[in-house]
Amino acid sequence: MKGTSSSNNILFFIVRNIFLLLLLTCHGANFAFAAAPVGGRGGKWDLLSSNIGITAMHMQLLNNDRVVIYDRTDFGASNISLPYGKCRYDQNDTSLKVDCSAHSVEYDVASNTIRPLMVQTDVWCSSGSISPDGSLVQTGGFNDGEKVVRVFKPCNGATSAICDWQEIPGALIQRRWYATNHILPDGRQIVIGGRRTFNYEFIPKTSWAHNAYSLPFLVQTHVPGVENNLYPFVFLNVDGNLFIFANNRAILFDYTKNVVVKNYSEIPDGDPRNYPSTGSAVLLPLNLQAQDQEVEAEVLVCGGAPKGSFISAQNHSTFLGALNTCGRVRITDPDPKWTMETMPLARTMGDMVTLPNGHVLIINGAAKGTGGWENGRDPVLEPVIYRPDNPLGSRFEVQNSSPIPRMYHSTAVLLRDGRVLVGGSNPHVYYNFTGVNFPTELRLEAFSPSYLDSSFDYLRPQIISRAPQYTIGYGQHVPIWFTVPGVVDTNLVKVTMVAPGFNTHSFTMNQRLLVLASENMRQVGIKDYQINVVTPNNAKLAPPGYYMFFVVHQTIPSVGIWVKIQ
Ligand SMILES: *[C@@H]1O[C@H](CO)[C@@H](O)[C@H](O)[C@H]1NC(C)=O
Ligand SMILES: *[C@@H]1O[C@H](CO)[C@@H](O)[C@H](O)[C@H]1NC(C)=O
Ligand SMILES: *[C@@H]1O[C@H](CO)[C@@H](O)[C@H](O)[C@H]1NC(C)=O
Ligand SMILES: *[C@@H]1O[C@H](CO)[C@@H](O)[C@H](O)[C@H]1NC(C)=O
Ligand SMILES: *[C@@H]1O[C@H](CO)[C@@H](O)[C@H](O)[C@H]1NC(C)=O
Repeated sequence: MKGTSSSNNILFFIVRNIFLLLLLTCHGANFAFAAAPVGGRGGKWDLLSSNIGITAMHMQLLNNDRVVIYDRTDFGASNISLPYGKCRYDQNDTSLKVDCSAHSVEYDVASNTIRPLMVQTDVWCSSGSISPDGSLVQTGGFNDGEKVVRVFKPCNGATSAICDWQEIPGALIQRRWYATNHILPDGRQIVIGGRRTFNYEFIPKTSWAHNAYSLPFLVQTHVPGVENNLYPFVFLNVDGNLFIFANNRAILFDYTKNVVVKNYSEIPDGDPRNYPSTGSAVLLPLNLQAQDQEVEAEVLVCGGAPKGSFISAQNHSTFLGALNTCGRVRITDPDPKWTMETMPLARTMGDMVTLPNGHVLIINGAAKGTGGWENGRDPVLEPVIYRPDNPLGSRFEVQNSSPIPRMYHSTAVLLRDGRVLVGGSNPHVYYNFTGVNFPTELRLEAFSPSYLDSSFDYLRPQIISRAPQYTIGYGQHVPIWFTVPGVVDTNLVKVTMVAPGFNTHSFTMNQRLLVLASENMRQVGIKDYQINVVTPNNAKLAPPGYYMFFVVHQTIPSVGIWVKIQ
C-alpha cells in the first residue's frame, strides 16, 4: 500500500465508521459467545454446474476470480462449442482432425458462468504457473503440444468476453508431459521433469539459463514401465533451494548450480507417492510470526498406492488398497526425519488443498487402484481435514461426502471466498458417458468447509478495503482493517497469505501459505480493528505475484483480498 492509498483508506475508514456507528445505535450491539468450532463431521457440498462442457483436468484461479480450466484436445468433441463458430483444424490430433468444440473454459466465480476458450495444440497432462503479472503460463502437453507454451492473461472490462489463450510454439527445449513447475524468487518459472524427460529448464529463457539441465535424481527414482516419479512434488524452501520429492524420497536442490544440497531419507514405508501411484503433498504453513527466528518449513505427503499397484491394476485388473499413510518432514532441519501418520481413509489420487486458516483439505480420489486410464476403484467421497498444529493422533477429521466420484483427472482449487472448487474425473481415453465405470464427469461442485457455516458468522472477520487490489513490497509494515460481528479474542487473530496454485493430477504447483507476523492489533471502532502485518522479508519466502490475504479469527477466515507483492 502506497502512502496515498493508505491515507485514502484511513479517510474511507473514518467515514465508514461513522456510518456503522449510526447503524449500531439504531440496532444495538449484539453479543455472542466466542467459541472455537468443535469437532464432528462438517462441510457442505453444492453443485455449481451440471455441465461445464469439458472435464476439469487442470485448474488455475486467476486474480480476477476466474478459473481457467482445460482438459485435452484429443478427447474428441466436448460438450461445449468453440466461441464465434471457430473450429480447430489439426492434422496431428489423434482423435478429430476438425474439432469445433472447446477443450478449455473460463469459469467466473461471481456469476457462476462458463465461457469457452480455444487451445490449438494438445495440453494433455501439462503443467503451469502464474507469473508475477498474474498471467497463467502453461507449459507442454502431448503430441503437437509437447513443446508449446501458452499464456492466458486475466482480462476484465471490454476484453473480458473475448480474451483467449496465446500460444508460443517451440518455446520449450524438451517435451514436457507430466512435468512440475514452480515460480522462482526472480519471477521466472522452473519446469522439472516429465515423461522420459530427466532434466529441467526455465521459462522465460535468460542468457545464463537457456538450456535444459540434467537431473539424475529423476533417473534414480524412475521405475521402468511404471514411472512412479512423474509430476514430482516441488516446493521452494525458505533458503531458496527446491525440495523435490519423487517416488519415495526427496532432495534439496540448488537449481542455480545444478547441485543436490541434501538427500532426505526414504519415506519409511518405502512406497511410491508420485504418478501413477498418485499421492499428494503440501508445504505446510510457513509461520513468520516469530520475527527473530529462522523460518522453518515442513512438507506433508499423503496417500498414493503401494508398490506393484499399477501393474496389478493395468495388467491383471486387480485393484490393490491405496495407502492410508502420510509422511511429514521438517525440510529445514539439519537432520530431517520423517514422522508417519495414519489417515482415517486410504486414498490414491487425492488432492491436498491448503485452506486460508492453515488446515489442509484432503479431497477426491479412490480407495483402490492407481492413477492412469481405468485404474481406480472405490471412490472416496468424504474429504478429510488435517490440522497441522493439533497433537499427533488428533489431526484428521472426516467431512461430509459428495455424491460425485472424483477419480483420475479430477481437480480442486481454493477460491477467495474460502470455498474449494471441485471438478473433473475422466479415467477414459474419450468422453464416455455411458457403459463405463465412472462416466466422464462434467459437473462442477464447491466444497464449503465448516468455517463457512453461518453459525460461525459472529466470529467471521470482514476485511474493510476500498481498493480491490493492493501492491505491497517485501518487509513492509502494512495496516489491515477489519470488522467482526461478535466478541474478538485479539490473541486468536492472524493474517495469512495464500498463493493461488496450479492443480492437476492430484498435485497443486506453487501452493503456499504464509502466516504473517503482526503487531499492534487494536480496536478502532465499535466492531472495527486494525492489525499491522509485516510482509515477508524476501522473495524466497514469497515469490513475486498475486496472493490472497485472509484475516483469520479462531480458525474462521474472512473472504480474502488480492494483494500483489513485488
Ligand atoms: C451437450 O450435451 C447435451 C446433452 O447430451 C446435448 O443435447 C448437446 O447438444 C451437447 N452440446 C454440445 C455443444 O455438444
Ligand atoms: C504437426 O506436427 C508436426 C511435427 O510435430 C508439425 O511440424 C506440424 O506443423 C503440425 N501440424 C499441425 C497442423 O499442427
Ligand atoms: C546424494 O546422493 C547421491 C547418490 O544418490 C550422491 O551422489 C550425492 O553425493 C549425495 N549428495 C549429498 C549432498 O549427500
Ligand atoms: C504389463 O502390460 C504391458 C502392456 O501389455 C506389458 O508391456 C508389460 O510387460 C506388462 N508388465 C508386466 C510386469 O507384466
Ligand atoms: C468411449 O467413447 C469413444 C468415442 O466416442 C467410443 O469410440 C468408445 O466406444 C467409447 N467406449 C465405451 C466403453 O463406450
